[in-house]
Amino acid sequence: MITIGLLHTTIRGDEKLILEAAKKRNIGIKLIDVRDEIFNRKTYKHNFGVALERCVSTVKGTHATHFFESINVRVINNSTIAAICEDKFVTSLVLQKAHVPTPGFAMVFNSPQAIKAVEEMGGFPVVIKPPLGSWGRLLAKINDIDALEAILEHKEVLGSPHQKSFYIQQYVKKPGRDIRTFVIEGETICAIYRDSPHWITNTARGGIASNCPVTKAIASISKKASDAVGGGILSMDIFETDDGLQINEINHTTEFKNSENPTKTSISGAIVEYCIKVAKNQ
Ligand SMILES: Nc1ncnc2c1ncn2[C@@H]1O[C@H](COP(=O)(O)OP(=O)(O)OP(=O)(O)O)[C@@H](O)[C@H]1O
Ligand SMILES: [Mg+2]
Repeated sequence: MITIGLLHTTIRGDEKLILEAAKKRNIGIKLIDVRDEIFNRKTYKHNFGVALERCVSTVKGTHATHFFESINVRVINNSTIAAICEDKFVTSLVLQKAHVPTPGFAMVFNSPQAIKAVEEMGGFPVVIKPPLGSWGRLLAKINDIDALEAILEHKEVLGSPHQKSFYIQQYVKKPGRDIRTFVIEGETICAIYRDSPHWITNTARGGIASNCPVTKAIASISKKASDAVGGGILSMDIFETDDGLQINEINHTTEFKNSENPTKTSISGAIVEYCIKVAKNQ
């Protein structure tokens, strides 16, 4: 019997769905709460060859991934994919280098450079984001130079070291929604629209999920983006713009529980199937 190590912190509804999907397929799951582990290569014992990283904490998840890779356990997603997707700046660099359409962006470390960067990008509005954030937290849409200076001063004075790196992105006009695709090894298995009257359309911030038909254009940009970051199990935020689709960002440990119903797709089932495939090809 195949056993998959499920690396986790809090067990969310998403992990419960993965457990159910594994049970249905007669796949053993070894639950590993990384907070209870001692990651010492000399003493660590395990009985699985494939691990699925599902930690809510990106930092703990990444450390656990490095540990298991060091003892030759294949981790989904691997540390290379995680290193790209956990940081929005790195994701943008990789996408742009691979010619995947993505909004204009820059990284700066102080206010005068931020003002110049916005000019280079074509002016306001812009969006400032923590490079390592999620759930739409601490996103700021900046409409003018006064707001830009104020936000950056607050970050410089009150922020932690991470918050003193300013990732600036062009603000993209979108039709009251964005698209989230669920992509496994380059294939888009389903997608949702996230509608909201607010410019931040995350479901964590009140956006409403509904099924989004996977068009050729959606499948194609998702495949290109997946190839650029190294495949695996991903979800992507896509903007519909006048110039076509653009990838906003890519998540490597995605929440999906609210997307199974609207899309009528077992995302958890597809995740488990992918883990089985990887385990069999070891
Ligand atoms: N440059 C932009 N232009 C227009 N809208 C944007 C832009 N950046 C972000 N948004 C809106 O804010 C939402 C959250 O942004 P983003 O996905 O970059 O942040 P996040 O905190 O990583 O979210 P997630 O929960 O997906 O990790 C997007 O889904 C989109 O609706
Ligand atoms: Mg997002």
